[in-house]
Amino acid sequence: MQEGIQSRAFVDSGELEKQRKYAMQAAEVLSSVHPHGYKAFVHVYGCQQNVSDGERMKGLLELMGFGFTDELEEADLVLFHTCAIREHAEDRVFGNVGALKHYKATHPNGMIVLGGCMTQQQRVAERIKHSYPYVDILFGTHAAHKLPEFVFRRLTAKKRVFDIVEDDRDISEGLPVHRDSRIRGWLPVMYGCNNFCTYCIVPYVRGRERSRRPEMIVSEAKELVNMGCRDITLLGQNVNSYGIGCDYGYDFADLIRAVNEIEGDFLIRFMTSHPKDCSIRLLDAMAECKKAAKHLHLPFQSGSDRILKAMNRRYDREKYLSLIRAARERMPDLSITSDVIVGFPGETYEDFKETLSLVREVGFTSLFTFIYSPREGTPAAKLPDPVPHSEKVKWLQELTALQEEIAAERNSALLNKTVRVLAESRDESTGLIEGRTEGNVTVEFDADDSVIGSFTDVRITEALNWILRGTPANNTDDK
Ligand code: 5AD
Ligand code: SF4
Repeated sequence: MQEGIQSRAFVDSGELEKQRKYAMQAAEVLSSVHPHGYKAFVHVYGCQQNVSDGERMKGLLELMGFGFTDELEEADLVLFHTCAIREHAEDRVFGNVGALKHYKATHPNGMIVLGGCMTQQQRVAERIKHSYPYVDILFGTHAAHKLPEFVFRRLTAKKRVFDIVEDDRDISEGLPVHRDSRIRGWLPVMYGCNNFCTYCIVPYVRGRERSRRPEMIVSEAKELVNMGCRDITLLGQNVNSYGIGCDYGYDFADLIRAVNEIEGDFLIRFMTSHPKDCSIRLLDAMAECKKAAKHLHLPFQSGSDRILKAMNRRYDREKYLSLIRAARERMPDLSITSDVIVGFPGETYEDFKETLSLVREVGFTSLFTFIYSPREGTPAAKLPDPVPHSEKVKWLQELTALQEEIAAERNSALLNKTVRVLAESRDESTGLIEGRTEGNVTVEFDADDSVIGSFTDVRITEALNWILRGTPANNTDDK
């Protein structure tokens, strides 16, 4: 292993070998207890990074011989991969863990496992330990690669396992991944965050930024393309800082260019970018790389300079808008999406109006809107927050109505136009094929299952507020 800053980020190969051995040993015990096979029920809460982590957890479960089930009653192991971003996310997990009491009563040998961002917090680990005695294993984000060891220990020592060690040496290369989709692939490029936005729990539960080696990322991207993936999302809390502090000689723009070189018909997406270090180099790479989707997810969080400062975002409204202008100059059809927080402590209606005006000015394709949720341990949680929740709900509704208007207008501009759609699945409720445009807008259309997994030209016949409907024009796929 190389020396230097970047080498600190990796789990060493000896440790990974140890986990492989634990997996084999756990499989031996499990198959003697369940001679007809054993299954896991896995539920992932939260963001795409968590979904990607969940695929890696499933890879480890598979290594232990687990199959998967969507029926809790059939499961021999239940794994919740949790999220801590807002209080609501945590409340849902506590509610669902509470409901597992019944599962444990009917499945005394069933194993209950909790991992992820929420369980990395001491306060949560204590609460689970004391109030949910039927939880068998709990670990945080940094110990996830040790799942085989935890399962083996629980099977053999009969003691509950709790591990929320803080150690950023947790990038584990070469362990198996169980992909949820063969069409869209999640590809982590870095972990952690150094930004410490004052409202955000992520830097506390996911640790400092650390980047995977570019050759590992490119080789995983090739693997995804060979599997038939047509849409690859490069993931990180702040992808623009990819490679900082490493001697890889690659920044994020270089990484996009390298993935773009891979043979095949696929789109490259990435999330999440931070406006403070979203560079012109990156915009140029996006514009020049044919496979880079012309879609930019660039969270602005607030349109008010006063609130941006209080959030420690380190850019102002003008800097954000100038980035948008630079991006659109290079990519006139660029689809821009964003995240925004309503009701940050001390935010007034005047500040909020600045958010509304920024939304009007940019004309986002879609927005993820959140009411501020205090997170224990973050600086913002200590600030006075005089605006009542009911008022914040009204602001949110005003924002949602505005965005709905903008999206409807943008969508109706596509009427009678033909767009290229990656068909992903059949929606059971409508019976229609569902897919996404390069700009990440959902499109529904009537076609047979053979289009799933390929790019299809669709003529738009109906523009609803959030989605588009259409009919296939002709199939452009090379399958
Ligand atoms: N309250 C509300 N929203 C939050 N986000 C992050 N932390 C909080 C919080 N404490 C939002 C931000 C971020 C998105 C992933 O979640 O908008 O971009
Ligand atoms: Fe949280 Fe800010 Fe880091 Fe995003 S950039 S994960 S909002 S601290």
